[in-house]
Amino acid sequence: MAEQRAQWGSRLGFILAAAGSAVGLGNIWKFPYITGENGGGWFVLIYLMCIAFVGLPIMMAEILIGRTAQNSPVGAFRTLSRPGSPWLGVGWLGVAAAFVILSYYSVVAGWAMHYTWISLTETFTGKSPEQIGDTFDALFESPKLNLFWHTLFMAITIGIVMAGVRRGLELCAKILMPTLFLLLLVLFLYATTTDGFGKAFTFIFAPNAEKLTPAGVLEALGHSFFTLSLGMGAMITYGSYLKREDDLVAASITVSVLDTTVALLACLMLFPIIFTVGLEPAAGPGLVFISIPIAFAQMPGGALLAPTFFVLLTFAALTSAISLLEVAVSYFIDERGWHRVKATLVCGGSILVIGIPSALSGGTKLFGESFQSLTKYLHVNEGKGFNWFDFFDYVATNWMLPLGGLGIALFAAWRVGAKAREEGFKAGTKFAKLYWGWVLLLRFVVPIAVLLVFLNAIGVLQRLGLTGNGP
Ligand code: PHE
Repeated sequence: MAEQRAQWGSRLGFILAAAGSAVGLGNIWKFPYITGENGGGWFVLIYLMCIAFVGLPIMMAEILIGRTAQNSPVGAFRTLSRPGSPWLGVGWLGVAAAFVILSYYSVVAGWAMHYTWISLTETFTGKSPEQIGDTFDALFESPKLNLFWHTLFMAITIGIVMAGVRRGLELCAKILMPTLFLLLLVLFLYATTTDGFGKAFTFIFAPNAEKLTPAGVLEALGHSFFTLSLGMGAMITYGSYLKREDDLVAASITVSVLDTTVALLACLMLFPIIFTVGLEPAAGPGLVFISIPIAFAQMPGGALLAPTFFVLLTFAALTSAISLLEVAVSYFIDERGWHRVKATLVCGGSILVIGIPSALSGGTKLFGESFQSLTKYLHVNEGKGFNWFDFFDYVATNWMLPLGGLGIALFAAWRVGAKAREEGFKAGTKFAKLYWGWVLLLRFVVPIAVLLVFLNAIGVLQRLGLTGNGP
């Protein structure tokens, strides 16, 4: 660490960058489609509880670890414990998760870019829902298009991360986040005028547990980590660029509330359209790419709003992708002494390559059907197995992030020195009173919740006769 460590230019800059990391495809693409697959209702409720009682305390823990250690994930665990400690494994797991997640995340971001392009060149206006559905299938199955957009998206991400913390990460988030928020509001207002709004509201919020399985509960937990960018050191890394006197409690609350608002707004704008047009809520990963163009095709001004929406979706993905790449890059800068340019090129380049099978999952037998028959033996996805793309998403979200989050919670609550923990939490905050509540959540509630959800998902509770249905 020869140079002085980078820092955020302002408190707002940090909050926007952290919110930029949290708000992304997870909110607008993934949350609505998994809510659809799990039947809404209880799934949403469990997700909200996971955010409040598991995610939020872990976010505070991550920022605290990063800020106290002033180091990237692996180094942070070393600084706050000792060299060679097993805790370093949590940091390693995080760096590995960055490679896995960004590799397929970039493919979906590529879809958003493709949709920006076609909404400008072909427009959706006047197209039937069937035609719009076919457009998505054609994209999903095309190796060429997927590879092209995946490569382009990674190239842009690499370019920004290379520019560094203030000029790259912070500037980008400051402009993009407020615009995204505004556009979502406009779309939400439009959705309230459609016939399906009431039905959608009931679907999302009315307590309905019909479709909920133990695997669904694990998914809600995993997604609360994914959507808040937790469990893999992204917030440790961002926290390490934070000044010591900044209020991390208020920042964590702000980021979590923003993130949850965007996710709920995304559902409240998509499901009314889905019900109005008569689409299937459980349509899977194509949901946002089909329902949004259908709405725009029928809406006055749709020809203008469609490209705007997809540009913003691309940007939301970009600010998250930046934070994923930054975790890997900061590891090589801090631990191996690499220059930022070299670290970014090597990490970004590797992720580009690791993402190729995901980009080819829809269009080739090898990474699609054949991989799916292989993963059947793991008894995942109700015994149906996954293609490569879905498998990476499943492993990272449902296993790597909760496991990493568990490690971070235990580390912050039991291993970090009591004085450093208390001072770190209370520095500059109006919420000093929450300290013991936070520690208790991290010590007991988080570990027990994560363990129960794991045991439930692998069917242990069911074998003990404690729950009704298995995975
Ligand atoms: N939170 C991001 C989203 O919702 C994804 C992400 C996960 C980013 C983990 C960084 C780390 O899209």
